[in-house]
Amino acid sequence: MQKRNIKTNIRLILFPLFLCLLLVFIQKWVNYELDKPSIGCGCICVDTGKGQCEKRCGVEYSSLKQGFFCAIPHPPEWPLLLQVPYPQFRAVRTGDSCKRTGSCPVTMLITGNNQTFGQLVAGNMFSRPLNINSSDILHSLADNALGSETETRVDHVLDAAFLSKSPVDFLQPKCPSNSRFSLAIHLGSATIRKDVRCVQGLQLWRNSSSEINDELYKGYRKGNSERKINEILAAYDFVNSKENLFNVTIWYNSTYKRDRGNQPLALVRVARSINLASNAYLQFLPGPTREILFEFVKEMPKPETKLRLDFSSLLGPLFFTWVIMQLFPVVLTSLVYEKEHRLRIMMKMHGLEDGPYWMISYAYFLTISSIYMLCFVIFGSTIGLNFFRLNDYSIQFVFYFLYINLQICLAFLVADWFSHVKTAAVVGYMMVFGTGLLGGFLFQLFIQDSSFPKAGVIAMELFPGFSLYRGLYEFSQYAFNGDYMGTDGMRWKDLNDSNNGMREVLIITVVEWLVVLVVAYYADQVVSSGKTPLLFLRKQQQNLTSSFRKPSSRRLGSKVFVQMEKLDVDQEREKVEQLLLESSTSYSIICNNLKKIYPGTDGNPEKFAVRGLSLALPEGECFGMLGPNGAGKTSFINMMIGLIKPSSGTAYVQGLDIRTDMDRIYTSMGVCPQHDLLWDTLTGREHLFFYGRLKNLNGADLTHAVEESLKSVNLFHGGVADKQSGKYSGGMKRRLSVAISLIGDPKVVYMDEPSTGLDPASRNMLWDVVKRAKQNRAIILTTHSMEEAEHLCDRLGIFVDGRLQCVGNAKELKARYGGSYVFTMTTSPTHEEEVENLVNQLSPNATKVYQISGTQKFELPKDEIRIADVFEAVENAKSRFTVQAWGLADTTLEDVFIKVARGAQAISSLS
Ligand SMILES: *[C@@H]1O[C@H](CO)[C@@H](O)[C@H](O)[C@H]1NC(C)=O
Ligand SMILES: *[C@@H]1O[C@H](CO)[C@@H](O)[C@H](O)[C@H]1NC(C)=O
Ligand SMILES: *[C@@H]1O[C@H](CO)[C@@H](O)[C@H](O)[C@H]1NC(C)=O
Ligand SMILES: *[C@@H]1O[C@H](CO)[C@@H](O)[C@H](O)[C@H]1NC(C)=O
Ligand SMILES: *[C@@H]1O[C@H](CO)[C@@H](O)[C@H](O)[C@H]1NC(C)=O
Ligand SMILES: *[C@@H]1O[C@H](CO)[C@@H](O)[C@H](O)[C@H]1NC(C)=O
Repeated sequence: MQKRNIKTNIRLILFPLFLCLLLVFIQKWVNYELDKPSIGCGCICVDTGKGQCEKRCGVEYSSLKQGFFCAIPHPPEWPLLLQVPYPQFRAVRTGDSCKRTGSCPVTMLITGNNQTFGQLVAGNMFSRPLNINSSDILHSLADNALGSETETRVDHVLDAAFLSKSPVDFLQPKCPSNSRFSLAIHLGSATIRKDVRCVQGLQLWRNSSSEINDELYKGYRKGNSERKINEILAAYDFVNSKENLFNVTIWYNSTYKRDRGNQPLALVRVARSINLASNAYLQFLPGPTREILFEFVKEMPKPETKLRLDFSSLLGPLFFTWVIMQLFPVVLTSLVYEKEHRLRIMMKMHGLEDGPYWMISYAYFLTISSIYMLCFVIFGSTIGLNFFRLNDYSIQFVFYFLYINLQICLAFLVADWFSHVKTAAVVGYMMVFGTGLLGGFLFQLFIQDSSFPKAGVIAMELFPGFSLYRGLYEFSQYAFNGDYMGTDGMRWKDLNDSNNGMREVLIITVVEWLVVLVVAYYADQVVSSGKTPLLFLRKQQQNLTSSFRKPSSRRLGSKVFVQMEKLDVDQEREKVEQLLLESSTSYSIICNNLKKIYPGTDGNPEKFAVRGLSLALPEGECFGMLGPNGAGKTSFINMMIGLIKPSSGTAYVQGLDIRTDMDRIYTSMGVCPQHDLLWDTLTGREHLFFYGRLKNLNGADLTHAVEESLKSVNLFHGGVADKQSGKYSGGMKRRLSVAISLIGDPKVVYMDEPSTGLDPASRNMLWDVVKRAKQNRAIILTTHSMEEAEHLCDRLGIFVDGRLQCVGNAKELKARYGGSYVFTMTTSPTHEEEVENLVNQLSPNATKVYQISGTQKFELPKDEIRIADVFEAVENAKSRFTVQAWGLADTTLEDVFIKVARGAQAISSLS
């Protein structure tokens, strides 16, 4: 079947390939963007004089942004800076006008046990006036208390203050009026033009450290209402410091960050506030020339770097969730297809038990899924996706293998709820895409949020789609980091890592797999075989009741039949009883008082579908079962083919009991169900091969049987056998169904209305097939076509209301129940009365059954007339008036059927 689905399968396989290629494409594009000169270290082309070009790269050729990527063999040094609050947030006691002009002083809070001491020391902090030595500008700056409002960055080759546009501040007790000017600063080999600005540093004394604390707390920026914010440069508590003891506590603000992400702050701006205090203390000690100035800092040298982003690993979880889950609707629709087209029942009728069906389907889907995953991983690895290449293949194998198993079991479970392929497909695909998107945009947030309880994440992972997402997410994280750091992806030992969710995912998947497998099998038993949920209890109970009922129901049965004086039916019953006593018989089918009672539900009474049927069929006989709809024919056939168990009584097929030996009966039984249960994409030949194998045929025997079978139903020639059955006409499908029922030379065949919906030509062809087939087997055939019954069947039984009303061949039945001729005559309407008189003369008990514009129909009792009289009377009439047409017909089987059915229904409604 998969061979036929080649387009779908190619699409299926192309989907992951497409996603992989898309990822590679995105990755290539990202790399291309990242490789642009503006993102790497800047380079220039230096003419070497011979018309050639020498490429030189480095900070000196780079813009500020590019400089970040350059190799820094000799990092520049730069003066330490204080973190200065933005002008609009600075604490001011009165008036907000400075906030607008940006000239607000920055405040520093001081406290200590000895106010004199504290103020003296603090006074030394900003005392030195700015004195620029033009030949060494950096040193002159470093002597001062420098600060900046810019926020620090993690990549700290040079303090961000020197790269940003905002000026560098130097703090003074009082600022001159022309306090802003520009300087050319040499940092390493680069020269930066930088604005330098004087900012007034205000030192305020506070009585205690708790006072400072309160003030700092109030200063904290909440929202962006500038008026209420009073940010402070730093605060110092000199505690018990004195001339021979230096003991200081410093408050600093660590919350200045480049972005809202969780990157750690470079604490480099704190160093200066410490040095400020210690230097001020040293200067307070006798001799103002002493200083321990913390002038410069510099980074360690580093090689050139490149910006790298492994997009495949970042997008991987979403895309690959789609890829892997895509198999789910595929398996699901395949299962639902066999259910919707009732092929499972068909296979069961031909002896394919639930167990093997499950095993075969499971193994098949597992193979398909494995091949699919293998292609996917191999392809992904080949085109170089780190997601596959960096992580240990054995972990990937275990993870994917467990997941596809779980997925197949889930599909089995879910398939029970669907009866249409279309709904199943829609729901399946919605689940695939929904799960991927929910995983990517919701579930991932929970995984990344370290404050979210781990148990919550695990609870979500109980949903298989999310556990898949989690596993893929872990792979992607390990691949991303591995790529970034140049190390391996996930290894087995990494499962011990407490942050690695893979261990839980694997455990959850294994447990769910086993649980879902059991539940799905069980649910399937309940749904597909119509058994009640308490499967095992139920079985025993049924056995008990059936064994209890047997004797009493039997007595009851015979009493009913005696009452109704159905001699033929009674004879059949006696024959059955006789046959049961004999050890071996040539009879293929013997039904012994077979009954089916459906238990009453919702307070309704029990329904008697079959009320004691006894029947014996010798080999070579075709038994036609006639009966109105709902008479119980289908229940009877279902019992015979083992779909339902009889409530009491039993039947023997080839001497085997249908209650116990169904497995062996299947090999010698064929069924042609009422509706064609065929796979649209398989050819007629393939159907026959399949069912032939179920009948234990193989090798040359099988080929031979299939050819014979095709020939017998006239599907062999003209390439019909190799056409897909979906393209067959109704008649061809029906003939194929009949051929299926006959393959493997079954001894017993059940045909449920084999010719419904066929045109007369196809029907005749089908009849020929059945006629030939009945030679060495017993056939039970139900039909609504009397013509068919008469044509094909050796014996007929009319089955009404769960009982056989009569049994016999067509002639006998007609003789027994007919008993009248039908006389029709058409004249002009003026002669109607004369016709009536003529009929009354022929037979006084004639009844008119039909009259319309000159055409009249009469029933004449057989025992009152002779056919010769009728002819004579008509000849006479012809001489008197014009007879347009006339006819005399014997009773048809149809009349018999209607009579019997009406009679039986009348009796049953009386009782
Ligand atoms: C406070 O510090 C000043 C300056 O060092 C010192 O002269 C004075 O004695 C100190 N006062 C006390 C109570 O220690
Ligand atoms: C300026 O700096 C240079 C180099 O460090 C030094 O030689 C010179 O003496 C300094 N000039 C003054 C006035 O300090
Ligand atoms: C701080 O202490 C001084 C002297 O002890 C006192 O006059 C002043 O009111 C105190 N300030 C506050 C805010 O408590
Ligand atoms: C510390 O820095 C943060 C972030 O810039 C700011 O919101 C807050 O107001 C500052 N706190 C003080 C007391 O200055
Ligand atoms: C320094 O100050 C702290 C209180 O901030 C105090 O616990 C500690 O004993 C002081 N150290 C000395 C050496 O006095
Ligand atoms: C796994 O982790 C636990 C603690 O988290 C440690 O005791 C144990 O040795 C680790 N096992 C391996 C194989 O690394």
